[in-house]
Amino acid sequence: MEGVQTISGLQERILHEPNCLDRLIVDLAVNVTAMFRDPAFFVALRDKVIPMLRTYPFLRIWNAGCSSGEETYSLAILLEECGMDERSRIYATDINDAVLRRAREGVFPLEKMREYTANYHRAGGTREFSSYYDADSKVARFRPSLVRNVVFAQHNLASDGSFNEFNAIVCRNVLIYFDRNLQDRVHDLFFDSLATFGVLGVGEKESIRFTRHAAAYEEIDPDQRIYRKVV
Ligand SMILES: C[S@@+](CC[C@H](N)C(=O)[O-])C[C@H]1O[C@@H](n2cnc3c(N)ncnc32)[C@H](O)[C@@H]1O
Repeated sequence: MEGVQTISGLQERILHEPNCLDRLIVDLAVNVTAMFRDPAFFVALRDKVIPMLRTYPFLRIWNAGCSSGEETYSLAILLEECGMDERSRIYATDINDAVLRRAREGVFPLEKMREYTANYHRAGGTREFSSYYDADSKVARFRPSLVRNVVFAQHNLASDGSFNEFNAIVCRNVLIYFDRNLQDRVHDLFFDSLATFGVLGVGEKESIRFTRHAAAYEEIDPDQRIYRKVV
């Protein structure tokens, strides 16, 4: 893609061309995502987490590693259906500016809507999923009002610090790509960023077991990898 023949040729280019580093990151980072991915996770949020969070006057939620926004829109739809959208703010972050631009636009391929509609209903959604978007022959444009309380911003979990105190952090299918040291760093960051009784949701192949903060969390739904900070 870069037209260089050797790794050192690529290194040379990365050192001297900032855009080349951006292209490398975009290419290396796995951005696969979906709306209401793993629907049972969203059922657990609806049934077990929202009732706890409802007691707060205002919620700050960090969606870390949000990719192109499908997960963030899913969270926003869930909050709206639970009547919590007006008193919540989602901070949706990713290392990759290109996917964040797509997230801000909220325009997703129409061909995905059949899969996302099925996920939405399996996730406990009760409305017409199509009421959330306008479709043309190629794309579905999600209602901008869904994300009026969402801040999309670049944040690198490997090097950036905490930027707020959150009542919930959703970071799914990101840590699975990190080695143990980097996972430890991110768990330190999440622990420092969560309020007491804050909720942490990770991906189905991820866990806080065996991390140094394991004892500081209780399990809310171990199958769905949802935990609550109790210290
Ligand atoms: C496989 S996607 C997961 C998206 C979404 N959370 C989901 O489960 O569908 C992983 C995302 O993590 C992001 N990512 C990778 N390394 C990161 C880092 N160091 N800091 C923040 N985001 C990162 C990637 O850019 C990508 O968008």
